[in-house]
Amino acid sequence: MTQITVCSHLCPHQALHLSKVLGLPLISTPPPAKQLGEQMILDWYHYKNQCPEEAPKLGLFSSHSGPVSIDFISGKKNHRRQFGGGKGQPLARAIGISGENTPSVLDATAGMGGDAFVFATLGCRVVMVERSPIVAALLQDALDRALNASNLDPDVREIVGRLSLVNADAADYLLNQQPQVEVVYMDPMYPDKKKAASAKKEMKVLQQLLGPDMDSEKLLDAALRTANKRVVVKRPAKAPTIKGIQPNAEIKSPNTRYDIYSIKALKAAGLI
Ligand SMILES: C[S@@+](CC[C@H](N)C(=O)[O-])C[C@H]1O[C@@H](n2cnc3c(N)ncnc32)[C@H](O)[C@@H]1O
Repeated sequence: MTQITVCSHLCPHQALHLSKVLGLPLISTPPPAKQLGEQMILDWYHYKNQCPEEAPKLGLFSSHSGPVSIDFISGKKNHRRQFGGGKGQPLARAIGISGENTPSVLDATAGMGGDAFVFATLGCRVVMVERSPIVAALLQDALDRALNASNLDPDVREIVGRLSLVNADAADYLLNQQPQVEVVYMDPMYPDKKKAASAKKEMKVLQQLLGPDMDSEKLLDAALRTANKRVVVKRPAKAPTIKGIQPNAEIKSPNTRYDIYSIKALKAAGLI
């Protein structure tokens, strides 16, 4: 199992708090990346082109790559916000976004928040549920930095304001809290070596940290009991469906397939 340590050299108060909340050891000096082996470090760092008044980022450092962190203000997510496919992109169509229709979404596998940010960019309110406390800490840091940024673009402020975060197992959360939500979205980590080999840096680190998600059937069950309109499952294009339940529709892009389960149709067929 990967050992995680929190480092306090840049943000001692936040580091002490995080190490207590997560029950992780605290060190004061970051070890050189080469000496990390299978260990990972949660540490704050100054990033490229950072304005002096902006807070440092929380990153997950490993021997394999530079820090993995989440950023809702700049970088890839912001680029996709400006130049992505808008409401016509497969992900948006799968969720049922069209015209003025922007359903409420519970992203049951929030991960790095990429898909959740797309939903929020297109106008949806999104509850992000992430069970890994480490990944949830990275998401919380990204939300806090965005909401505390002094010169944030008002559009981005509005988008980030539509996102909220819950650190919990989504199946338990759905069954215990029974939130009112139109769409439940799932993108579990797929146990496929080919996908792992071609995965991006962030996903490789997540795969090392978390391993594949082996309980997606339980999550799909809970999602089907909760969503008011549909459940959407993101899968690699050729992967089997979860649990062998036939989706009512699917939307394909070159490497990805979105399986769409319509609650109305499944109820009508007596399947749920
Ligand atoms: C492939 S990643 C999701 C990536 C995400 N869609 C994105 O755009 O960044 C899967 C994530 O779902 C989380 N996860 C898997 N099953 C979960 C569950 N039952 N409850 C909460 N989180 C879960 C994992 O911890 C992991 O962070």
